[in-house]
Amino acid sequence: MNNLELNKIYCESNLETMAKMPNGFVDYVLTSPPYNIGYNQMNGDDTKKYKEYEDKLDDYFINQKNLINELLRVTKNHIFYNIQMLGNNKVDFLNLLGHFKDNIKDIIIWQKNMIPHIEEGVISSSFEFIIIFSNQQPDKKKFYDGNFRGNFGNVIKTLNIHNNPFAKEHKAIMPLDIPRMFMQKFGKENDLWYDPYMGTGTTAVGAIEEKRNWIGSEISQEYVDLTNKRLKPYLTQTTLF
Ligand SMILES: C[S@@+](CC[C@H](N)C(=O)[O-])C[C@H]1O[C@@H](n2cnc3c(N)ncnc32)[C@H](O)[C@@H]1O
Repeated sequence: MNNLELNKIYCESNLETMAKMPNGFVDYVLTSPPYNIGYNQMNGDDTKKYKEYEDKLDDYFINQKNLINELLRVTKNHIFYNIQMLGNNKVDFLNLLGHFKDNIKDIIIWQKNMIPHIEEGVISSSFEFIIIFSNQQPDKKKFYDGNFRGNFGNVIKTLNIHNNPFAKEHKAIMPLDIPRMFMQKFGKENDLWYDPYMGTGTTAVGAIEEKRNWIGSEISQEYVDLTNKRLKPYLTQTTLF
């Protein structure tokens, strides 16, 4: 037995939340982990990317290896892991792909508008990876829980990266189209989706809109408060639609 409540964000490290979960507790995971980028060099100053979390680990590989191992334990189906390969995490990211090669079912490219790199001689980035780790026949490409046939490609585009109203308050947010798209494409109503790095609650809002259950972890109290504020209008509705 565990004491976890559904449709709730836990203000703690994701490993603490998962320690309370039995094997296969959640149906799916959708997450965007920190990229180990440290200070936000894009601004040319020492502004942090996150308010409380520094995003600079001594061993990003070990940290993410422990996380993914735990995610594979608590997840029944698939883990949609969104990551960008940057200078600071390139080797660790490639090592993670190698380490988990037997658990990777497929890879999706999320194409975004190109942001020109400020440094000379650096290729500008216009995509992110969505790695699909899986417990369901990861050696096969077929998804038995997929709600698609010939109409879901492995390069996806989001209409507008800024359709997250909290873009100013959190510098690494996901557009709402991403969780909604994956929830529509995989599984069914009432499935339980977990986001171990909840940030501003984008996965939770997607889950509510797609009639899924959700659970989240977020280490920063400020972002937990922001998520709860963002969710308030949905929670006070008696019927969702
Ligand atoms: C890339 S952001 C996630 C953004 C989110 N997808 C959204 O749309 O708002 C990563 C978040 O993970 C949080 N975080 C970092 N380490 C954590 C940990 N060990 N457990 C839980 N949350 C953590 C950071 O505070 C940050 O808000």
